[in-house]
Amino acid sequence: MIEHKQKENGFKYIEIKNEKAEAKIALQGAHVFHYKELGKPSVLWLSELAYFEEGKAIRGGIPICFPWFGKHKTDATLAQHGFARTALWTLTLEEEIESNTTHIQLQLLSDEKSKALWNYEFDVRLDVVVGSELSVTLSVHNTDSKPFEITTALHSYFNVSNIDEVLVKGLDNTSYYDALDKMEYVQKGEVIIDKEVDRVYYDVPNNIELHDGKRKVELTQSNLNSLVVWNPWIEKSKQMADMNNDAYKNMLCLETGNIGRKPLTIEANERCVYGVVLKSYIVEEG
Ligand code: BG6
Repeated sequence: MIEHKQKENGFKYIEIKNEKAEAKIALQGAHVFHYKELGKPSVLWLSELAYFEEGKAIRGGIPICFPWFGKHKTDATLAQHGFARTALWTLTLEEEIESNTTHIQLQLLSDEKSKALWNYEFDVRLDVVVGSELSVTLSVHNTDSKPFEITTALHSYFNVSNIDEVLVKGLDNTSYYDALDKMEYVQKGEVIIDKEVDRVYYDVPNNIELHDGKRKVELTQSNLNSLVVWNPWIEKSKQMADMNNDAYKNMLCLETGNIGRKPLTIEANERCVYGVVLKSYIVEEG
């Protein structure tokens, strides 16, 4: 079932339910803000105080950071994480592939508004496939006559039952930039979160695992080489109006992307396709 819905203020989203899973996707930002396999906990975290308002990013789910990640390189007045996450996308395809698999495609085309911020022509599509796993694929077509460079991320917020028990596996021996002290380090072993963390890991493998007690979520990324690990912890959570003070205990961002020293160059008339697949498991005891 695919339903077109809206909040009281007119904020539009698509609700998907099939035999395996359910999901919600906002037209603003092509933002998947809910995904859950039936009988399992939600994979994605969504803030209880998230805004569903025109022009405001949703705190939770999978914001799309495009065409730049983080602060703009040269103009601090431009929106953090680019304009795609607050732009209105167009629904281009909706199909129930099977009774347990649903496919949605949304499109963002360059226009006068985007060109005032970033002067390039582009055609970006997001394909979301909802089933026993969630697949999110971005296809960036450079329709301009000159190359462009992007930094980008699928800024996924994961739902965790207790941040103290969380382990991120797959990053052993990868180097990372710590945005808090602006230093570079090499990760040793699994990542635990026991304080504010804001890091960009470079040259990460395609498979990363998030362990949360008896649950595991596998992230399988394609054509992406960085991973941001972010948890605002106590003080930063208090500073965010769209997040409860103690919500940091139940969320962790693992943001697959091409970030920082690893921007992507897309030549004129070329297309770059990248994405992530999320699959959750209940880990057997013993
Ligand atoms: C992360 C950044 O990707 O996003 C953090 O590494 C930032 O520094 C966080 O605080 C949230 O950003 P925003 O713009 O959604 O509040």
